[in-house]
Amino acid sequence: MALACDPTAAPGPMLVGPDPSDAPIADLDDAWRERFTAGDAAFEANYRVAQGLGPVYIRTSCASCHKDDAKGPGFVNKMAPAQPDAMLPWGDTVRPYTAAGASTPIEPEQGAVVSTRVGPAVFARGYLEAVQDAEIERVAAEQAAAGGIIRGHIHRVAWRSQANPDARFHGYGPGDEGLIGRFGLKASIPTLDEFSAAALLGDMSITSPLRPDELPNPDGITDDMRAGVDVELDVVNLAADYVRLLGLPARIDPDSDEGLAHGQALFDEVGCGDCHVPTLHTRPDWPIAAVADIDAPIYTDLLLHDMGDALADGLQDGDAGPRDWRTAPLIGLRHLRSYLHDGRAASLDEAVRAHGDPQSEAREVTAAYEALSDDEREDLLAFVGSL
Ligand code: HEC
Ligand code: HEC
Repeated sequence: MALACDPTAAPGPMLVGPDPSDAPIADLDDAWRERFTAGDAAFEANYRVAQGLGPVYIRTSCASCHKDDAKGPGFVNKMAPAQPDAMLPWGDTVRPYTAAGASTPIEPEQGAVVSTRVGPAVFARGYLEAVQDAEIERVAAEQAAAGGIIRGHIHRVAWRSQANPDARFHGYGPGDEGLIGRFGLKASIPTLDEFSAAALLGDMSITSPLRPDELPNPDGITDDMRAGVDVELDVVNLAADYVRLLGLPARIDPDSDEGLAHGQALFDEVGCGDCHVPTLHTRPDWPIAAVADIDAPIYTDLLLHDMGDALADGLQDGDAGPRDWRTAPLIGLRHLRSYLHDGRAASLDEAVRAHGDPQSEAREVTAAYEALSDDEREDLLAFVGSL
């Protein structure tokens, strides 16, 4: 499959600037800046067996799947059993490598449905986390009230970890339900600290105070080479804070260029912005001042949409069905080199046309996009590629 970050790949119809995708928010105070630097190291670090890697794992660092905080190159394969009612004894995630005395990886059984998911970008995800619940509920209600075919729904999820004693950003714990899922391609996790704990465990089999138990594995190993819980709470929170403190990727001001301004207008006219909502308002009480009480330009509604069979992956994830995906945040798109959940699209035009399945909520918008003139499509995509 195409790798997401192939430096030799043709840039495609995008404007690529020299600005980095992994810079912190400007003007952080010293304490946050230190946190960012330490979190950056935690995100880049390669875990070793002595630190608790294994028994089964996919990769050894966060950055291997989120290089420069953008998409890929690492990916995760999820699977559904060949027989719909069959159980997957070791869970739904393929874990191809073993360590810590294990010898049997977790591979898909014959005939299993496999869903490949390239690590999405993590930049701007701190802004996604800060968006007010009421904003997401408002957009979902507006889509329903409009009575059209675009009807995103909120993925309500339960908290599936131990409570985080560090309650600066939220105070969720076991038993909490009905939380708004924001993270993951099917919006199945509500917060960045829970995602961090889930990634440590799911991708590397690193246990933490939030997720203290090793995953079930074919060799029946219940603890790895590091006895007990592998990392301290702060490792979980550092990786989460790193993502929270990443700045919004810089972008070209559309007003500086006639084509971009035209492309922005077409983006709204055609209806891309119905799902890729240009801004959502953040919580006034968000602890990072630069992110609090702003219209965050994230280009997503954080809702699940039925994208039809063309993009379906055959997997149910909580209340998200096989055809459902969270609207991909388009902010920072200029840093990506392949598109969609599995990186199948090599160009923006291909990514947009893939929205047009006859069952897709985006089918009318895709038809409107296809009806544009070549010049109009070029301007629209130049705008998207400038984000
Ligand atoms: C083996 C590859 C891999 C590794 C290693 C990995 N991730 Fe990911 N990451 C993914 C994939 C794939 C997804 C999407 C998961 C899904 O929805 O099924 C994801 C999603 C995320 C998201 C949510 C992004 C969004 O758009 O909602 C965050 C945040 C994240 N990862 C952080 C981390 C952190 C922190 C680490 C290290 C502790 C890490 N990841 C390690 C592959 C990886
Ligand atoms: C019904 C809601 C909806 C509409 C309307 C819509 N999109 Fe999307 N878009 C999505 C979803 C959901 C995804 C993620 C699909 C996937 O990963 O398989 C996505 C993904 C994308 C991606 C890939 C982003 C990435 O990170 O890989 C691009 C580019 C994109 N959309 C552009 C557009 C443009 C341009 C339009 C208007 C012509 C548009 N979209 C209209 C819901 C929508």
